[in-house]
Amino acid sequence: MYAYILVVPQSHDELARAEFHAFTGCDTASRIGLASAAIDISRAAFISTCIHIIAQGASLEELCADISAKGLAWEGFRIENFCPSEKLKFTSLEPVIAVADAITGRPDLSHPSVRLGLIATPDLWALGPIISEYAFDWPAHEKRPYFYSGSLPTRFARAMVNLVASPGDTLIDPCCGVGVALIEALAIGVNAVGCDVNPKLVGRTVDNLRALGLPQRVFVADATRLTGSYDAAVLDLPYGRNVSHGDELYTDLLRTLGTIARRIAVVAARDLSAELSDNLGLRVLRHIQVPKSNNLVRHLHLTAAR
Ligand SMILES: C[S@@+](CC[C@H](N)C(=O)[O-])C[C@H]1O[C@@H](n2cnc3c(N)ncnc32)[C@H](O)[C@@H]1O
Repeated sequence: MYAYILVVPQSHDELARAEFHAFTGCDTASRIGLASAAIDISRAAFISTCIHIIAQGASLEELCADISAKGLAWEGFRIENFCPSEKLKFTSLEPVIAVADAITGRPDLSHPSVRLGLIATPDLWALGPIISEYAFDWPAHEKRPYFYSGSLPTRFARAMVNLVASPGDTLIDPCCGVGVALIEALAIGVNAVGCDVNPKLVGRTVDNLRALGLPQRVFVADATRLTGSYDAAVLDLPYGRNVSHGDELYTDLLRTLGTIARRIAVVAARDLSAELSDNLGLRVLRHIQVPKSNNLVRHLHLTAAR
């Protein structure tokens, strides 16, 4: 069994759980997810750590008893504790010391040969080696030259890409703006391309990609006329002053994407679930609401072609 730790800024729980599901195929209702497979989470936005659970129990005492019964031995270990639930926080090092005492072998806090994750939740205490961590590389992408007011947050964009694509998949970002999602896709090895109807923004995406050492795979196009075939698409729908044709533009964009991409993550300022499934023939697999500033909400729809 493997435990995955979700590190989530306030109100992004739903998005983090969706990312966990995309990686493992499993669901979780908390900030820790359990799965039977070990998955490389280096490209994740919200999954910080994967721990291979070797010992467990319903309490600290049961965990220590399991460690002793299994005769678990590590030389030069360091224990790192994870308490992903608000309901249980360590107020002293006592639990860590109790677990260390149950292990055969000496700890080495400065130069550990193995890092052990200690998970403490109200109903599960578990221990095992940390086998994978996220690269936490997206903050570097915030040093790009160009931003604009309509841009997606970088971490949100990373998770959005992860919901629909894996390294090696083909992906299109058809309304790429200054390229935030395109950058995240290219950075994790997705075979991505972007376009935008606005040549100035495409120029800025080129500059952003170049500054980050990424291939400048972007072109000017009206996305309602795209052709081709992609494993996935991420669509951050235009809104506000950008939308001159209102919902007609949405329908045209989504209908086109539905014919060229198998999985689409759609971000909108309102819930489009009914339109997507009733009028556009897409299966809405998840509808995730992520609050942003000014009491506004981003609606992220994870869809698949029927
Ligand atoms: C909400 S913004 C996307 C922002 C982008 N995700 C980013 O982070 O920079 C929507 C974008 O859609 C583009 N757009 C509007 N109509 C379009 C169309 N028909 N084809 C392609 N792009 C279009 C706008 O120029 C704008 O850049």
